Amino acid sequence: MRLTFLRVTTSIGDSMAEWVKVCNQNHLKKGDMIPFDHKDKKLMIANLGGKLYATDRICTHADADLTTGILNEDGVTCPLHLSIFNLQTGAPQNLPAEKPLKTYNVKIEQNEIYVEVG
Ligand code: FES
Repeated sequence: MRLTFLRVTTSIGDSMAEWVKVCNQNHLKKGDMIPFDHKDKKLMIANLGGKLYATDRICTHADADLTTGILNEDGVTCPLHLSIFNLQTGAPQNLPAEKPLKTYNVKIEQNEIYVEVG
């Protein structure tokens, strides 16, 4: 499933911040991961135990889409060679991946989920 989003640029305090609306909070249940694109970025948002995380979604080891992997309390497991990434830090927990995923700030306003991409 691909989602559309709105671009929201804030000017209060963080003039460089660019928040994109990803989806309504009700569309991301516990245990769900949703892929979304912004310009050339391939991102994902995950609901791990009720907490939301946004990261790049292409594995740092090779070209695998992490939203087709497995989400559990350890993070997201790459479907190709099974590296596990911590969603809070982006850090891989095991080889073969060695580089962290980029992580992004997430906020909820009026039941809509936004990710800071700027
Ligand atoms: S592609 Fe993800 S661990 Fe190899």
